[in-house]
Amino acid sequence: MTSLPITREQALELIKKYNSHPQDLIHYLESEAVMRQLAKKLGEDEDYWAMLGLLHDVDWGITKDNVETHLTKAPEILKEAGFDDEFIETILSHGYGFHELPHLADKTRTQKIEYALASSETITGLVHAYALMRDSRISDMEASGLKKKFKDKTFAAKIERNIIMEAEALGLTLDEFFSIAIEGIKNIKDEVGLS
Ligand SMILES: [Fe+2]
Repeated sequence: MTSLPITREQALELIKKYNSHPQDLIHYLESEAVMRQLAKKLGEDEDYWAMLGLLHDVDWGITKDNVETHLTKAPEILKEAGFDDEFIETILSHGYGFHELPHLADKTRTQKIEYALASSETITGLVHAYALMRDSRISDMEASGLKKKFKDKTFAAKIERNIIMEAEALGLTLDEFFSIAIEGIKNIKDEVGLS
């Protein structure tokens, strides 16, 4: 069990300190929920993986007007909160390879936990968009329906399918990953405006 320097409540306060946009908060909560479900399925540390999901975009609110600076403020914010270098580097890894982020563009993910965070935070957008199309219902959403949306490149076109596919590096099929993502978000559906 890896120890975390702050509680979930404190992490929520930290997030809200830097960003109060409801849409962004939904994305953080969903990323947390998918990471938690994924850790549960894989026998990993649920609280640690969930914390990565919750905090992965901690500096977004103060960097979004200057996208190339995204994830340049996160290290100091997280260090100040007591997180160690390993946790911070894992947070940064979800920006590896993005040409919009010059400081991370040349890096590539190599660790299981890095593939998990990148694929989890990316799939939240697909699940949420699909739920909205279904009158905000997730309770009866099936992996097969989500898969169709995944394959339809015109649906939520900005969501990078290749990053979602990194979940396969965790030893999961895409179908399994779709089910995990749906289950995870279903667990918090009321908090994120779904039913
Ligand atoms: Fe994100």
